Amino acid sequence: MPANLKLLQTSTFRLAATYLAVFAVSVGLVLGYVYWNTGLLLERQLEDTIEAEVQGLAEQYRTRGVGGLIETVERRSAQDSNSVYLLTNIRGARLAGNLQGLPPEATKGKSGWVEFSYAVVTVRGPQQHQARAFHVTLADGARLVVGRDVEERRKLAQIIRRTLFWALGLTLVLGVGGGLWMSRNFLTRVDAMTSTARSIMKGELSRRVALSGSGDELDRLAVSLNDMLDQIERLMGGMREVSSNVAHDLRTPLTRLRARLEGAIRSGNPDEQREALTETLEDADRLLQTFNALLSIARTEAGQAREGLAPMEIAPLIEEMAELYGPSAEEQGGTLTVQTAEGAHLHADRQLLAQALANLIDNALKYGAGPDGKPDITVAAAVDNGHVILSVSDHGPGIAEPDRARVLERFVRLDASRSKPGSGLGLSLVAGIVKLHQGQIALEDNAPGLTVKLILPRQLQGG
Ligand SMILES: Nc1ncnc2c1ncn2[C@@H]1O[C@H](COP(=O)(O)OP(=O)(O)OP(=O)(O)O)[C@@H](O)[C@H]1O
Ligand SMILES: [Mg+2]
Repeated sequence: MPANLKLLQTSTFRLAATYLAVFAVSVGLVLGYVYWNTGLLLERQLEDTIEAEVQGLAEQYRTRGVGGLIETVERRSAQDSNSVYLLTNIRGARLAGNLQGLPPEATKGKSGWVEFSYAVVTVRGPQQHQARAFHVTLADGARLVVGRDVEERRKLAQIIRRTLFWALGLTLVLGVGGGLWMSRNFLTRVDAMTSTARSIMKGELSRRVALSGSGDELDRLAVSLNDMLDQIERLMGGMREVSSNVAHDLRTPLTRLRARLEGAIRSGNPDEQREALTETLEDADRLLQTFNALLSIARTEAGQAREGLAPMEIAPLIEEMAELYGPSAEEQGGTLTVQTAEGAHLHADRQLLAQALANLIDNALKYGAGPDGKPDITVAAAVDNGHVILSVSDHGPGIAEPDRARVLERFVRLDASRSKPGSGLGLSLVAGIVKLHQGQIALEDNAPGLTVKLILPRQLQGG
């Protein structure tokens, strides 16, 4: 589409044009009405004075005859340069007055209004002026014309008409110009957004819409768009990371699995084959677990699980976890102690919180055994201001300060734990769940051992 056509199609320009049209029409109507009415008023005033004068002169004629009338007309013509007078006899010959002859318009009918042009001698030489006059035929057939020079008034009206025309013209030109200028401003910014969107679609994910800094509605839109793009970029980054991690970390167990099956086929020994199948089954289960954990993480990070959020009481959940995992701890000769905050409520997804606690307790059971090889685990809930703090503590070797942020990432397992089964996804899922609940996760030294704290707000922001 040509650039200037696009300009005319912007909503800004249409708005400006509509506003301008309405404005111009109303101004034109108001000024036109004032102009027309003023003209009418002035004309009526003029006619009234002329009519009064004609009546006065007719009175003179009746009382003093033609001679008296000639005298008065001569006197008045000499006095007032702005008035026109003419008195003729029945044949049309001039008897008195400052008009040279009867205007042709004044020969029709017995009396009436006429407008005509007549010659005047001014300082700038002879000129044609416009006059408006009343003519009557007197009793003896003599004719009388009385009028006023309206040349000045005509010129004034012309000037006013011209001014009106230019004023309207200028309004239109400025209005259209202003509209185009505003539309261009608007369009430039919208075009900038469009081109940003295009380059993002081409793969430049880090591009953002530029702000004008004025804080207007377009800027606010741009800020929202940029926030959305940030979020999308984060999610895309996460996806990319997950897929490369999956490719990397699942290849090893799958290769191992394949090698084992191949070896079993080649050996031909039924016992060996059975053992290989059993091991393969275990491997497949582990792979399935890993997949499920990855899916859960992806789901919580995409914020899909938000529908499950509801008010819930924390104490029963802690009790339930203790019942589930207490026996495992005792089996290993350890203990699982709970400290619940009775009556503490929060807005959360019960299923996901249970999953997070299960992952933490599972870690404590696996890695949290003391020097005697027995795990002593404490699961606690406490209320602090607007937060509920869930913690799982053990008395194992703990995690060294530099590793604490790292273990929250996917597939990260510390060297000391390599001997234990696991895929390094447990804490990532916990971190994802905490994020979904707008909370924070903290790994602390339990001296000795590890305490993992989940600090969850009791009320979530923004629905
Ligand atoms: N309580 C703990 N004490 C000491 N180290 C721990 C503890 N919990 C976790 N870790 C370390 O953090 C690493 C990451 O834990 P995470 O739960 O994410 O993975 P995992 O337990 O190895 O595997 P998964 O949970 O997926 O089965 C663990 O491999 C371990 O090295
Ligand atoms: Mg784990």
